[in-house]
Amino acid sequence: MNTNLRLAEKEDYDEIYAVVKESFKTAYHSDGKEQDFVVKLRNTKDYISDLEFVIELENNNSNSNTCSSSISNNSGNNINNSNNSNNNSNNNGNNNINNSNNNDIGNNSFNMEYIDNKDIIAHIMYTKTYVMDDKGNKIHEAIHLAPVSVLKEYRNKHIGSNLIKKTLAIVKNKGFDVVFLAGDNKFYKQFGFKPIRFFGIKYAGKFPEDLLDNLMALELVPHSLNNISGFIFLD
Ligand SMILES: CC(C)(COP(=O)(O)OP(=O)(O)OC[C@H]1O[C@@H](n2cnc3c(N)ncnc32)[C@H](O)[C@@H]1OP(=O)(O)O)[C@@H](O)C(=O)NCCC(=O)NCCS
Repeated sequence: MNTNLRLAEKEDYDEIYAVVKESFKTAYHSDGKEQDFVVKLRNTKDYISDLEFVIELENNNSNSNTCSSSISNNSGNNINNSNNSNNNSNNNGNNNINNSNNNDIGNNSFNMEYIDNKDIIAHIMYTKTYVMDDKGNKIHEAIHLAPVSVLKEYRNKHIGSNLIKKTLAIVKNKGFDVVFLAGDNKFYKQFGFKPIRFFGIKYAGKFPEDLLDNLMALELVPHSLNNISGFIFLD
């Protein structure tokens, strides 16, 4: 059984809604509205269609239970995860995957007994956000990672962490240098995220005092936040 990471398309939106809703039913933290948050984000000017991804199961009638992966859009064209398109080779009209340093999504073998009619098993999206000064002026463009979802049946197989690693590389290749999120510190520190207080960034909204370390930032480009102080708002 293969998994495929590709851009989300409009035809996927209903299925994504269901995947996000179902996934957050068993989240450590949830307000039960994450699926609506996805819809809301898509309707803002900060939405980036090139940074919304799904992982789908391929060949779900296959008897094989070995996973491999590729990156493509729904039309079968591979996503070029590089600023340098010279890396493409012409192989019967197909482009090679320019993601060789991190091509490990789904390289695990696992029993696919849970396969049903669902094809999409995971989703992630990134939208624009901004560091603001105390007057609300935007002083630095950044990226907000939210939400990320893996259906319960497919968890603990590194699908979520590989999805995050791979797509963060794409975010970086698009020229963004900082990513913010509100999420579990214990989960996100493996990717290099640190609490925003570490960078002198504050939160403009309300957030539980004892969970402040769950407001996190990742410098995709080292030292990007060195000379920046201000506020973020992730809503
Ligand atoms: C978070 C999520 C995307 C991880 O997907 P996944 O495919 O299971 O991730 P991986 O297999 O790469 O990693 C699993 C590991 O992360 C840990 N983990 C998962 N969610 C965690 C959380 N919120 N806090 C701390 N650790 C967490 C698991 O316990 C597991 O740990 P282990 O490797 O020591 O056993 C998935 O659990 C999910 O969709 N959860 C519901 C939605 C959600 O909470 N999303 C946002 C997270 S802030």
